[in-house]
Amino acid sequence: MNETIRTIKSRRSIRGFNDKPISKDIIEEIIECGRYAPSAMNRQLWKFVVIDNKDAINDIRDSIIDDALKANPKVKERMKSMKDPLFYNSSLIIIVLGPKDDKLAYFDCAAAAQNMMLAARSLGVGSCPIGTGRLIINKKSLVDKLKIPDDYEIVITLTFGYSDAEPKAPERKRDNIILLG
Ligand SMILES: Cc1cc2nc3c(=O)[nH]c(=O)nc-3n(C[C@H](O)[C@H](O)[C@H](O)COP(=O)(O)O)c2cc1C
Repeated sequence: MNETIRTIKSRRSIRGFNDKPISKDIIEEIIECGRYAPSAMNRQLWKFVVIDNKDAINDIRDSIIDDALKANPKVKERMKSMKDPLFYNSSLIIIVLGPKDDKLAYFDCAAAAQNMMLAARSLGVGSCPIGTGRLIINKKSLVDKLKIPDDYEIVITLTFGYSDAEPKAPERKRDNIILLG
């Protein structure tokens, strides 16, 4: 197995980070790998809102936690055992934005997000995509604070951090091939 395939197969969603901060160099490298994703007609329309300040991350969490509890039963479940059931004590979140109602740009954003998570994994940094992070868009004050443009939406929120956890890979479905030849 080569290094790339090992990184792809060993990346896991990490739900619990320690307090070790991520260096600016590593953050920049993760973002740079996001920029290297393919994009339709090479438009590169994604935007990345980068927050590496723990207090700011906790403020965002506190602003949306009630809505997240209502929207996602898993958040409620995790609240029983975790102090931060939303961002998992992350010290870096990157909110990937794409232009509203643009399906191709949505794909571009997903590719950029995956590039960033794989780059992180290869650098020893854990990550988890947080779909519930989209609830940020309902809080006008947060949208303003995070400088999310009116014509953009949140595609995915990514959390990053260090962790010793090596969760087992959830089993992959294999009945999803439509074999034509
Ligand atoms: C679009 C998207 C949204 C997700 N949202 C959450 C989330 O809100 N919270 C969470 O803990 N994991 C979230 N995940 C992570 C998935 O649960 C995880 O990818 C899946 O269980 C497979 O595990 P793996 O990433 O370790 O391979 C999300 C993943 C994707 C792709």
